[in-house]
Amino acid sequence: MAKKDIHLSVEDLTISFKTNQGLVRAVRGVSFDLVHGETLAIVGESGSGKSVTSRAIMGILAGNGIIDNGSIMFEGEDLTQVTEEHFHEVRGNRIGMIFQDPMSSLNPIMRIGKQITEGMILNGKHLDNRYKAMFQESRGRYKSLKRNIKRAKKTKKRLTAQYKWDISELERKYERRIKEETETKEEQNALLAELADRKQARKQQLTERIAVELPKAQETIAKLQQQLPAAKAKLKEEKANAKAAITKEWNEQKRLAAADISQIQSEAKAELDKLKADINDLSGDAKKEAQNTYREAAKKWKQKVADRKEQLARYKKVTKKEAFERAIQVMREVGIDNPEKRFKQYPFQFSGGMRQRIVIAIALTASPDILICDEPTTALDVTIQAQILELINKLKVDRDLSVIFITHDLGVVANMADRIAVMYAGKIVELGTAEDVFYNPRHPYTWALLSSMPDLDSKERLTAIPGTPPNMLFPPKGDAFAERNKFAMRIDFEEQPPMFQISDTHYAATWLLHKDAPKVEMPETIKHRIERMLAHDAEGEDKKEGATA
Ligand SMILES: Nc1ncnc2c1ncn2[C@@H]1O[C@H](COP(=O)(O)OP(=O)(O)OP(=O)(O)O)[C@@H](O)[C@H]1O
Ligand SMILES: [Mg+2]
Repeated sequence: MAKKDIHLSVEDLTISFKTNQGLVRAVRGVSFDLVHGETLAIVGESGSGKSVTSRAIMGILAGNGIIDNGSIMFEGEDLTQVTEEHFHEVRGNRIGMIFQDPMSSLNPIMRIGKQITEGMILNGKHLDNRYKAMFQESRGRYKSLKRNIKRAKKTKKRLTAQYKWDISELERKYERRIKEETETKEEQNALLAELADRKQARKQQLTERIAVELPKAQETIAKLQQQLPAAKAKLKEEKANAKAAITKEWNEQKRLAAADISQIQSEAKAELDKLKADINDLSGDAKKEAQNTYREAAKKWKQKVADRKEQLARYKKVTKKEAFERAIQVMREVGIDNPEKRFKQYPFQFSGGMRQRIVIAIALTASPDILICDEPTTALDVTIQAQILELINKLKVDRDLSVIFITHDLGVVANMADRIAVMYAGKIVELGTAEDVFYNPRHPYTWALLSSMPDLDSKERLTAIPGTPPNMLFPPKGDAFAERNKFAMRIDFEEQPPMFQISDTHYAATWLLHKDAPKVEMPETIKHRIERMLAHDAEGEDKKEGATA
C-alpha cells in the first residue's frame, strides 16, 4: 500500500491503567493503519480494548491511563507525544468522535442549537487563532523549557512515587502467591522473607538512583534555566510582531468596511432624498404609495449596511448568525427535518436516533477528516440503527472521511466496513478486508464471533461464545484466547502467537497458522454460515442487476 494513502498509523500501542488491584493491561501492542477514505471496523467483545484504543487516538484517556509504548502517527506528528494544548487543536478540528450513548455527549439542559454552535463560535476566532499561530512555535519552546525544568525539579518525588508503586505491586504479588502457592506456615514465612529482601533491595536501589539522578537533574535544570531568558525574549518579540501585523490587518479591514458603508450611506441618502421629495409633491393614495416605497427603500439600505458590518465581523470570527446558518445546514445534512424549529429545542424533545444525529452534527461542525464511531448504534433499535449506519456511510462519501467504526457485533459492519480488525484481550488477533474476515476467517476467535452473529434470515444467533475473556490484571502468558479455544495446542498456553501473514491484506495471530501446526478446518457450522452469506450476497447482486437492467 502506498504510504501516501495512510491517514493515521497506530504502531505497537500499549496502554495500561493504574488501579487499586494493580495494572490493567488494556491494550497490548496494537498496530493498524487507517487508509484515506476507508471504513475500518474494530470488532471485539466487551473489554477487549476498543474504546481505550480510540480514546488514546482522541487524547482523552482516563487520568489513570498510561501509554506505555507505541505511537499514533497523524500528519507527521505522534499524537502520543503532543502536548495537551496542541492535542485539542488536532482533536477539535481533524478527528471527531461519537459515542455509544448520545445522551451522555449532550447537555440535557442546553438547547440543541447552542450545543451545535458552541464549538464553532469557540474555535472560530479567525484573527485570534492566526495571531496565536504566529508565535505558537516559540511559545511551545518556552513552555516546554519551563515544563522540563519543573519535571527535573520533581525527580526525587517521581522516583519515590515510582518506588512506592513498585513496593505495593510487589506486596500484592506476594500476597497472591502466599494465597495460591503456600500451604504451610514455613512456606509462607519463606515467601515473606523473600518479600522483605526484595523490598530492602528496592529501597537500596532507590537510594542509589536518587544519588545518581539528582545531580544529573540539577545539571539539567541549570542548563535549561540558562536558555530561558533568550526563549522568553524571542517569544515576547514574536508576540509583539504578531500583534502589530494582526492589528494592521484588522484596521485595514475596518477601513475598507467604513469606506464601503459610507459609500452605501451616500447612495442611500441620494435615493432616499429623491423619494422624500416625491412624497412632498404628492397627495392622497399616491402619497401613501410613495411613503411605502420610501420605507421599503430605507429598509433595504439599512440591511445593506448591516450586511457589510456582518461581513466585517465574519472576518474576525464566526459570528452568531454565521454559526446559526451553518448549524441549520449541518442539521439538514444529518437528516433533521424542520431544523429552524428543532434548533430551539432541548435533547429530551428528540428521540434516541435523532439525538445521535445531533451528536454527529456536532462532530461535523469542526469539519473533521477522521470520524471515530464508538458503538454509535448499540443503544438504538434495529431500524434506527440501520438509518444511522446509512447516514454515516453517506457522510463518509460526501465529506471524504476516513472512519473507524467500533462495535462488538460483526453483523453491524457487514455492509459498511472496508477492512476489519478483530480485537481480543487488548490485541488485534485478525486483520483483513471485510471479505477476508467474513469469508476466509482464520482465527478461532473470529470463528466464534461469526457464529455469535445473528443469522441473516432467521436472526437467530448460533452460539454465544463460551467462557469469559481473561482478567487483564493478569494477562495470560500465551494466547489469551487459549482458555476458550477448543483447538488450542500446548504452545497456545505458553507463548503468544505472532501475526502470521495470510495474503497481502490478511493477517491473523494464531498458532494454527504455523507451518508445523496440525491442519484444522473451521467448524462446519461456520462454513455453512459463510456459504449462506455468500448466497445472500449473490442474491443481492442479482437483484441489483435486475433493477438496473
Ligand atoms: N479508567 C480505567 N481504569 C481501569 N481500567 C480501565 C479503565 N478504562 C478501561 N479499563 C479497562 O480496560 C479494558 C478495555 O476497556 P475498553 O473500554 O477499551 O473495552 P471495549 O472493548 O471498549 O469494551 P465495551 O464493548 O464494553 O465498550 C477493560 O478491561 C476495562 O476494564
Ligand atoms: Mg467500549
